[in-house]
Amino acid sequence: MKTLLRRRDFLKLGTIGVAISSVTIANRGRLFAQPAEAGSGLIVRTETPYNAEPPLERLVEKWLTPTSAFFERSHGKVPILNDNDFAVTVDGMVDRPLELKLPELTERFPVSSLTATLTCAGNRRTEFNRIKKVPGVQWESGAIGNAEWQGVRLSDVLKMAGITSGAKHIWFEGLDQITDKGETFPFGGSIPLEKAMSDTESIPGCLLAMQMNGKPLSAGHGFPLRTIVPGFIGARSVKWLSKITISDRPSANHYLAHAYKLISEDTHAAVEAADPIYEYILNSIICTKGPTPLVPGSRVTIKGVAISGGRSGERLNRVEISVDGGDTWLPTTITSPVRDFCWIHWSAEISLTAKTESILVRATGSSGESQPRETPWNVKGYQYNGWHKVDLTPA
Ligand code: MTE
Repeated sequence: MKTLLRRRDFLKLGTIGVAISSVTIANRGRLFAQPAEAGSGLIVRTETPYNAEPPLERLVEKWLTPTSAFFERSHGKVPILNDNDFAVTVDGMVDRPLELKLPELTERFPVSSLTATLTCAGNRRTEFNRIKKVPGVQWESGAIGNAEWQGVRLSDVLKMAGITSGAKHIWFEGLDQITDKGETFPFGGSIPLEKAMSDTESIPGCLLAMQMNGKPLSAGHGFPLRTIVPGFIGARSVKWLSKITISDRPSANHYLAHAYKLISEDTHAAVEAADPIYEYILNSIICTKGPTPLVPGSRVTIKGVAISGGRSGERLNRVEISVDGGDTWLPTTITSPVRDFCWIHWSAEISLTAKTESILVRATGSSGESQPRETPWNVKGYQYNGWHKVDLTPA
């Protein structure tokens, strides 16, 4: 539901500032540190850059994932920024280029909030390794979370800048710097203009977010400003956002033009020919640990999460589990709110028998498609959505 707050109320929610070791720096200067959340109980996949995911049980504790249980995915070191000097620029195919300081965003545009699930395209990457090893951060299934985001609608900012005819894509650039193969460049990407302008009464096509779960963004989640693009893979929700450029073509940034593409062979031609991934994929995950040891005859409650594909209008039709390797499927019950661009929580009670070796889950979307048994392998290990399995240990 859209919440329009007065600026006074918005500021009451917290001073835009973040407690990090001892340092703050001017916006355009740079200093990097580990995020304050390091050591918060997340499973750290890589220390630098910081990449961490929660134990799966934490995902089903609350429909709105607490920030402390929300995965973090960064390609470079986390920039520690000073909001006093922070400004975001809007340029390119516009009548009036803008430079907006943080307070100006909430003074000049209505404040809007959005509940949306964010998931990394690399979530469940390790499951591709069963087919063939994939490089990259070795995510299990926790690179997903559902949060309330607050900020201003990108479309309002674009309207103020005045989009000129022929514009088709909105580029974003963050203040982090990534060094790869001897080159240093910022994280960025773009979304189609159509998506940016696709606001409904309650859901912005894209939010310029300053708050997560009622508090200023933490350093690791993009303080002081990031995009949140509902339905799109996490990579399109650019953190530490400092530059918005309107163009007639997609961004040439590495993370749009080369990475985050589904390719089956690692060649220049394959990368050039593939489209960037925008929407995330239909998926479901079991978050309850396998009961160990397995006690035949006992009844257990299994819980998990599921998302529909991220394309506008896609919904979940059903989520089912199987205790016989996928021969037969049992219904689950939805135990959470059901909202566009948000995950659902589901649960099911099952009786274990001496033959139960594993539990599987699969979701089916509103257009009738179901998760496949296995996802075809791709070079970078994106969008794994095969049936999720938890193995049980016999007593
Ligand atoms: N934005 C910047 N500037 N740098 C990054 O490395 N990582 C992206 C996205 N935005 C990234 C970024 C990816 S791949 C994901 S999945 C999400 O941020 C993760 O957001 P989170 O760390 O807040 O969970």
